[in-house]
Amino acid sequence: MLVGLGDPDDAAVWRIDDQRALVVTTDFFTPVVDNPYDYGAIAAANALSDIYAMGGQPFMALNIAALPPDLPIEVGAEILRGGAEKVREAGVALAGGHTIQDKEPKFGLVALGFVHPQKMITKSSAKPGDILALSKPLGFGVVTTALKGRTADPADVAQAVEWMKTLNRAAGSLACSHGVKAGTDVTGFSLLGHGLEIANASKVGLQIRYNQLPFTSGALRYAENWNFAGGASDNRLYYGGQVQFEASLEEFQQMLLFDPQTSGGLLLAVPAHQWEGLQTEAKALGQTLWEIGEVVQGKGIHVLG
Ligand code: CO
Ligand code: CO
Ligand code: CO
Repeated sequence: MLVGLGDPDDAAVWRIDDQRALVVTTDFFTPVVDNPYDYGAIAAANALSDIYAMGGQPFMALNIAALPPDLPIEVGAEILRGGAEKVREAGVALAGGHTIQDKEPKFGLVALGFVHPQKMITKSSAKPGDILALSKPLGFGVVTTALKGRTADPADVAQAVEWMKTLNRAAGSLACSHGVKAGTDVTGFSLLGHGLEIANASKVGLQIRYNQLPFTSGALRYAENWNFAGGASDNRLYYGGQVQFEASLEEFQQMLLFDPQTSGGLLLAVPAHQWEGLQTEAKALGQTLWEIGEVVQGKGIHVLG
C-alpha cells in the first residue's frame, strides 16, 4: 500500500510492480443542478478527478446510484446516461455498478486507474519556490446555492455547469509530463481547505494572490449577496485559523475562498523551472492554467490582496 488511511490523499494507491500502481477512489453526492443529465456528468467527472489528482489514468469505473422509488424512470435514466457519456469521454470502461432506493438521489462512481509509482502526485511533495496553478475557476458553490435559491442567472449556471463537467484529464497528464509531484483537486473543502492539506502534508506555507484568482461568471456577485452554502461556514470555522488575509480583502471575498467546490480544478505545485514549458503546452491543448501564487517556507496560507 503506497497511499492509504495513514496518509490520506485523493485516492488509495496499491503498488503492483516497479512500473505500475493501482489507484482506487469513490465519490458520490446529491444533485447540485436541476438537469439530471448534467448532474450525472458532473458526478462522474468529479469521481474521476481524484484519479487525475494522483497523476493517474483511470481505466474502469462502476456506478453507485441511490434513486427514489417515485422518481420518473426517464430522470434516473438521464442521470445514468450523463455519467456513462462522461466516463466514455474519459476513455474509461463502465463495467457495472449498484443501485438502491433512497429518499434523496445520490450518484457517483467507483473509479480505478493506474499510475507509475515514481510519478504519483501527492499532497506531501510541494517545495518552497513551486508555482501554484489552478485548472478551473472558483465559485461553483455560490452559483449552485443561488440556483437553489432561484436567484441565479441561467447564463452563469450554464458556465459553472460546463466547468464542473470538464474532466481534469488534460490538466493531470500535463502535470505528470512536466514533473509535477504535488497537487490535489479542489472540492468540498474549498481552495483554502485543500490548499492547507498540501501545505500541512508538505510542511510548507502557501502564498495566494487574490487578484490572480479566476472566478466563474457571477460568482463575485453571488458571494457579495451572501449565497454561501453551510459548507462554506464549516470550512471557515475549521480552516480559518490557519489562513491570514490581507486587510484589504472584504468579508465576502475571504468567504468566497472557503466556498465548497463540486468537481473543481486541480491545484498543482509546479517546479518553477517547469512552469514556462507547462504553460506553453497547456495553451496548445486549450487547457487553461491560472498561476495563483506560490509555495513558500513556513506554514499556513497567506492570501495577498
Ligand atoms: Co480529491
Ligand atoms: Co473525492
Ligand atoms: Co449489487
